[in-house]
Amino acid sequence: MNGLNIGIEQINEQQPDVVPPANEPTNLVIMLKKAVCDESTAEYQYIIAGHMARGAGYCDVTPEYAQHADEERDHKFKLLKRLEQLGFMFSLDLINLSNGGNPWTPITTNNIPQQLDILIKAEADAQEFYKQIIAEARKVNDDITVQLIKGLLADECEHETDLRRIREQFE
Ligand SMILES: [Fe+2]
Ligand SMILES: [Fe+2]
Repeated sequence: MNGLNIGIEQINEQQPDVVPPANEPTNLVIMLKKAVCDESTAEYQYIIAGHMARGAGYCDVTPEYAQHADEERDHKFKLLKRLEQLGFMFSLDLINLSNGGNPWTPITTNNIPQQLDILIKAEADAQEFYKQIIAEARKVNDDITVQLIKGLLADECEHETDLRRIREQFE
């Protein structure tokens, strides 16, 4: 009996430690990190658009852009907080922030209707991505993330509506 026990101990000692890598990101975490990059890009896009905007509609878009920029920044911090709660820290270096997100059409024009078209599409795309994140969070029963992203989704929907209302002036 003793001999058998010793034998098992010896076998166990010889086994390599099979430990899953710590902090291996789940699909949900990967998506949340992407969303952080997207929010960072969104904030930047609104700041740039406000600086570049010229002509008719200037007085309408600049306060709207500034408010959206603040809200996108707030979204970014909420996402970072959730990632931290899930056990993942995010390296806020510029390479991650510029390369880690979904593809966005950059604002390179001072033409306000063209800016609005780009931003309206970005807001609609952001909503689609958040719907995907909600589906993923539901799959893993992460109700807190579901509730957080629902709030962000509602904000992006409001952003799109605000921009469309201004865009109607030009039709
Ligand atoms: Fe946002
Ligand atoms: Fe937005």
